[in-house]
Amino acid sequence: MSTQDPIECRILTGFYRLPFARFTTPYTNRRCEHEAGMTMIGASIGGRPVGLAVFNFGDEAESASLESIFVDPDARRRGVGRGLLKAVHSTLVDMGAANVAGTWFHDAPSAGPVERLLADSGWSEPVSTAMVHHCGRRFLEHVDRNNRAARLPAGFAFDSWANLSSDEITRIDELQETQEITPGLHPNGESMLPASPKTTTVLRHEGDIVGWMIHHELKPEMLRYSSLWLRPDLVGGGLGISVAIESARRHLALADQIPRLFFMVMENNHAMHRFIARRLQPGIDRSSSLMKSSKALLAAAPTPGLPG
Ligand SMILES: CC(C)(COP(=O)(O)OP(=O)(O)OC[C@H]1O[C@@H](n2cnc3c(N)ncnc32)[C@H](O)[C@@H]1OP(=O)(O)O)[C@@H](O)C(=O)NCCC(=O)NCCS
Repeated sequence: MSTQDPIECRILTGFYRLPFARFTTPYTNRRCEHEAGMTMIGASIGGRPVGLAVFNFGDEAESASLESIFVDPDARRRGVGRGLLKAVHSTLVDMGAANVAGTWFHDAPSAGPVERLLADSGWSEPVSTAMVHHCGRRFLEHVDRNNRAARLPAGFAFDSWANLSSDEITRIDELQETQEITPGLHPNGESMLPASPKTTTVLRHEGDIVGWMIHHELKPEMLRYSSLWLRPDLVGGGLGISVAIESARRHLALADQIPRLFFMVMENNHAMHRFIARRLQPGIDRSSSLMKSSKALLAAAPTPGLPG
């Protein structure tokens, strides 16, 4: 690879993806295999793979998301990142995307270079959109120690995801429609990761499922506390918190096998931020801001009567 060789960027399909797979996570590689909207763009110099950008743009979406961008340390500061972003932008314009957004953690080692690269390519000023809290056994013990066993009102009971019948899982799917549950809060909002069967906790009322705290298995040693949902007419009586606490207790029982967890709270969820500060802070190991930046892709339509 000489410094004179041009940077070549192209969309990768099938086995052409393999030499680039090391530039992103196993999770993103799996998503690229299974999700139609995921596209990989590889950068090479003199035939050698040097970088990868991955974006997601679904059929019905206006907005695309940049899922990952990485340049081989040996090939940095030579315009590869800029070239990858240019290829992402032009591919997305051809696909009809109106804009593209990307997220990263403020304290990631790569945060500075990524921010400067995006600014260099005309992306917006980054803003914090959510806090992600990383925790371990200390958090689970803190929750267990500081909360009494839930005394559920008559007719309510906790159950494990593992105990749900296939009929009940179908009924949960139906709830998504009838209760207008946003995909992020619904168990099906996550297509690639299994729900942790023993720690994911559902709330039943007279047998019906009326709430849940879903834990997804991100890695063998780590759960993501993904979604706390309660039927809207039950919100406000403390039942949601009881489901979350019960799920943490079930997790504590398995903490030797699954010692880590994280959960995300959107920036505008002020009540939850206050609750965390008051009741959970001592158990949290590290909190990171999830930063977001975006770029409009479609040029504004020319004003009628003016030269285009
Ligand atoms: C961020 C990253 C993709 C940049 O790739 P790159 O090929 O080095 O970037 P480029 O050479 O195209 O840089 C373009 C511009 O971005 C800015 N920039 C990029 N890296 C920078 C750095 N380390 N410091 C300051 N500015 C930087 C500069 O403005 C640069 O222009 P210039 O070199 O003319 O000054 C690369 O550093 C990287 O892969 N980092 C790790 C990212 C990561 O961990 N990704 C995984 C999670 S998504």
